Amino acid sequence: MERTLILVKPDGVHRGLSGEILRRIEAKGYRLVAVELRQATPEILGKHYEEHAGKPFYEALVEFMLSGPTLAVVAEGQRVIEGFRSLAGATDPTSAAPGTIRGDLGRDWGLKVMQNLVHGSDSPESAAREIGIWFPEL
Ligand code: CMP
Repeated sequence: MERTLILVKPDGVHRGLSGEILRRIEAKGYRLVAVELRQATPEILGKHYEEHAGKPFYEALVEFMLSGPTLAVVAEGQRVIEGFRSLAGATDPTSAAPGTIRGDLGRDWGLKVMQNLVHGSDSPESAAREIGIWFPEL
């Protein structure tokens, strides 16, 4: 059965949207395998966002991700990687379609980093890597 790593980022936790986001994941039919409220560390983020190192928004992204707790989630189901990315919507919350998490709940706050509420693994390889970073015991 396929698994994916989902993060409710600090903006989502701070705005009290964790429950609503978990509700949408479960309402779509996916099973929650692990849910943990965690304070990210520079070590975890360095690994998690290694593909973005050196990009203009990288420093602001790490600072944002350290600004408060993150809800780390592993969800399971047939094609859950594709399904959650569809549920999350486009990266930019301003243009994400209504009906999606980012489209319904997110917007541009005029900050250096795009605060877009959630992260979802983008491939089976990323999911295995990211689950290993956040939940090594799995
Ligand atoms: P995510 O898909 O989790 O991974 C990289 C994150 O960087 C992304 O979500 C956004 O939060 C942020 N991001 C991506 N592109 C930009 C950009 N052009 N400007 C600012 N932040 C960005």
